[in-house]
Amino acid sequence: MKKIIFSLIVVVIAIASQSFYIQAGSSKSIQDGQSVYATYCMSCHMENGEGVEGAFPSLVKTGNLKDKNKLVQIILSGMRGPIVVKGVKYNAEMASISLSDQEVVDVINFIRNSWGNKAPLMKLAEVPLAKKAVLKGYQAY
Ligand code: HEC
Repeated sequence: MKKIIFSLIVVVIAIASQSFYIQAGSSKSIQDGQSVYATYCMSCHMENGEGVEGAFPSLVKTGNLKDKNKLVQIILSGMRGPIVVKGVKYNAEMASISLSDQEVVDVINFIRNSWGNKAPLMKLAEVPLAKKAVLKGYQAY
C-alpha cells in the first residue's frame, strides 16, 4: 500500500513539474525577447516602447502589432513610411535587422506582451510560415 501511495506521489509530482515546465517555457520567450529588444530595438523605440514622437513610432497599444506576419516582415525586411501611428505621421525608414527565427519570435512575444500590450504567444514554427507569406508578395503596408 505504502508503495502504491509513494508511486502515486511521484506521478503527481512528475505531472505538476511538467506543466510548470511548459508555463516557464512560454514566458522564457518573452524574457529572452527582452534582451533582443534591448540590443536591437531599444535605441529607437525606447525602453518604454513609446519611441520618439515624429521620429520612431510607439509600439504601445497601436493595433499594428496584431498581425504577426507584418511584424516578421517589418523586422526582417525593414519598412518605409508613410504610416500614421496614434495620429502622428511617420515617413521614415527602418532598416532590416537580421535575426534568427528564435530571436524574431522572442522579440515579437516581448513587444506584444509588454507596456500593457497583450497577445497570445507566437510559436517558433510560425516564423518560416510568415516568411513564406512575405515571399508571396504579402504587403505589410
Ligand atoms: C534605427 C532605428 C530603429 C530600430 C533600431 C528599430 N526600429 Fe522599428 N521603426 C523605426 C522607424 C523609423 C519606423 C517607422 C518607419 C516608417 O516611417 O515607415 C519603425 C517602425 C516599426 C514598426 C511599425 C510600427 C507600426 O505601428 O506600424 C514596428 C512594429 C517596429 N518598428 C518594430 C521594431 C523592432 C521589433 C525592432 C527591433 C528588432 C525595431 N523596430 C528596431 C526605427 C527603428
